[in-house]
Amino acid sequence: MIEYQEVSKSYDKGHTYAVLNISFDVREGETLVLLGSSGCGKTTLLKLTNRLIEPTSGSIELNGEDISQLDPILLRRRIGYVFQGIGLFPHMSIEENTTIIPRLLGWPYDKRKQSFNDLMNLVGLDPISYADRYPKELSGGQQQRIGVARALAADPEYLLMDEPFGALDALTRDTLQQELLSLKERLQKTIIFVTHDIFEALTLADRIAILHKGNLEQIGTKDDILGNPRTDFVRNLFEKPARQLAAYKDLL
Ligand SMILES: Nc1ncnc2c1ncn2[C@@H]1O[C@H](COP(=O)(O)OP(=O)(O)OP(=O)(O)O)[C@@H](O)[C@H]1O
Ligand SMILES: [Mg+2]
Repeated sequence: MIEYQEVSKSYDKGHTYAVLNISFDVREGETLVLLGSSGCGKTTLLKLTNRLIEPTSGSIELNGEDISQLDPILLRRRIGYVFQGIGLFPHMSIEENTTIIPRLLGWPYDKRKQSFNDLMNLVGLDPISYADRYPKELSGGQQQRIGVARALAADPEYLLMDEPFGALDALTRDTLQQELLSLKERLQKTIIFVTHDIFEALTLADRIAILHKGNLEQIGTKDDILGNPRTDFVRNLFEKPARQLAAYKDLL
């Protein structure tokens, strides 16, 4: 479980806050979607979670342990991170990209190879035909699958995914969303998934946390949020897609 307690982050010595006084928890095994528009603090919250940045105030606990007391390197081994944008290293082959963390951990060659094969199968790519290719030789969707494989390489307890499918066309995004749902069934990881896409949030989330200008507007299940939006912002957020769907209803 991850617990955020009154977490704030200012990048400019307190003039403005990228996240402000946020408290919520992420339960074991759930997929929590952080939903909000550009600049609302989603990436900041993920980076705070694995200590790529430190909070201005407040604390974050992982299974009851304050992360500021944990070694950041050990912490990051427990948390897989799929970065915003593709984030593969262009000069490294697919196998090298996928096995960065196992190499840092000093796993022997056979164990790394086995892990690579397993991960590739998990994300639906043939290990033999992709191992020696470079990121630019893959499609966007294939690169995203490698990003997910890389994040899972050290078998982390938690998975942070920062708009992993944001740059993909709608059909590919739909395929990867369905794959993620089936992966989640098999792996039983606790996932924080960032998106600005309401339909993606509704597809993937066990619970949704809605951020707006650094504030947590509401957190709850889809039914909670759709049935009982707590602020005008949340109500407006879901009204537009509902109107769009209604407009197409006769065609579908
Ligand atoms: N390293 C930084 N230095 C200064 N300001 C930053 C830094 N990183 C982010 N910010 C600011 O903090 C706010 C939140 O940024 P963040 O990247 O968390 O947003 P986001 O919700 O992930 O947006 P997007 O959907 O565009 O990725 C923004 O106003 C941004 O300009
Ligand atoms: Mg971001």
